[in-house]
Amino acid sequence: MEEKKCECNCQNKDAFMEKLFQEYKPVKDNLISMLNEVQEHYGYVPMNCQKELSNFLNIPMAEIYGVVTFYSRFTLKPKGKYNIAVCLGTACYVKGSQKIMDRLKERLKIEPGETTQDGLFSIEETRCVGACGLAPVFTVNGEVYGKATVKKLDEVLDEIINNKPKI
Ligand code: FES
Repeated sequence: MEEKKCECNCQNKDAFMEKLFQEYKPVKDNLISMLNEVQEHYGYVPMNCQKELSNFLNIPMAEIYGVVTFYSRFTLKPKGKYNIAVCLGTACYVKGSQKIMDRLKERLKIEPGETTQDGLFSIEETRCVGACGLAPVFTVNGEVYGKATVKKLDEVLDEIINNKPKI
């Protein structure tokens, strides 16, 4: 019999979901907590895991999909090795963070929420990351780059692409 594999090719998918189903009661209030665990384990929320949660919690798929797409901490695709998030909160936006996001999209040819084909980069929009004094801000795998400019972004991208990241 062919082994059932997760979309993310994790061989332990069944064991992980089974463990989750043992740890949680099948009540709707547990949805967010369980989604958090799935996101943390797989790095995203695979569609088949959404289906299993739908069955377990007796919640329609559309509702689960709605929750996953509403909260920015959940993603439908695996993130890249370098996840770059540009803060579009008010303080950063007024200091020009949209230009940084535009440059990121232009260089990587992907939209927020997407990952480059080689899996190296993913990008996302974030709201305030608590570093407004350093606005505008972007982060690479959580590391904050303050008083950011398009030039600084280009330098960081070039460093990663040329395989000599300081991050
Ligand atoms: S608005 Fe960007 S860090 Fe606060």
